[in-house]
Amino acid sequence: MTPVGDGGPPPSCGQVRFYGRRHGRSLRPRRLAALSLDLDRLVLALPADAGVRLDPRLAFDPPRPRVWLELGFGTGEHLLGQAARDPEVALIGCEAFLNGVAALTVAVTDAGLAARVRIFADDARRLLPRLAPASVERVFILFPDPWPKRRHRSRRLLNDATIDELAEVLIDGGELRFASDHAEYALSTLARLTRHPALRWTATRAADWRQPPADWIPTRYERKARAAARPPLFFRFVRRIRAENCERV
Ligand SMILES: C[S@@+](CC[C@H](N)C(=O)[O-])C[C@H]1O[C@@H](n2cnc3c(N)ncnc32)[C@H](O)[C@@H]1O
Repeated sequence: MTPVGDGGPPPSCGQVRFYGRRHGRSLRPRRLAALSLDLDRLVLALPADAGVRLDPRLAFDPPRPRVWLELGFGTGEHLLGQAARDPEVALIGCEAFLNGVAALTVAVTDAGLAARVRIFADDARRLLPRLAPASVERVFILFPDPWPKRRHRSRRLLNDATIDELAEVLIDGGELRFASDHAEYALSTLARLTRHPALRWTATRAADWRQPPADWIPTRYERKARAAARPPLFFRFVRRIRAENCERV
């Protein structure tokens, strides 16, 4: 079976410790088979030299000029929907939960999208620092685990360090999409994002954060949140043009 992830030692080692679930209930035979047979050709391989950063556009054959990235894709329904919607885009999905990785592997294979989807089956905090600056057109972070207890907040995926990394990997004019049904996490993330000098919030009216963008694909967690009367908030930020590129536009 393909080793899960390609980002070095297990997540419990080194500086990055993953706190969520890595495995759920036993995998159905089809999903188990997909992990052995199909995940190999979908895996996003990082350069062996930890000092070398990957240009994700070159992770595809042929290279793809437009790459989108989803962190914590769950079972991958949003990623799959976006890949099916826009044939010009290639997508990288990052998810540490093996059952979700198996689900997306099956779905991508069945949908014939293997040429345009790559999977990093490990912690997003291992991936972001290994991606080349200005290489990703869009990033999705949808309903990340809120870790509601105060003493667990350091486990949240979005913090000042990961926001810096996201701003670095986004191309000029690239977009970061964040959604959450956890008001405190959403608002504290909004505060972090709005004070980041490289990011600009696109909202001009309340509907912009209350309604999803037009090309939105609802996720499993979004449906759960709505069913539990927790209306999600949707934030879109654009990567500002880098100073060195200003005179060229
Ligand atoms: C609440 S679920 C949301 C899943 C999906 N985005 C949705 O909206 O249905 C959060 C997901 O993020 C994954 N996750 C949490 N922290 C992660 C990390 N550091 N790296 C990669 N995946 C992570 C979890 O395994 C889980 O599948």
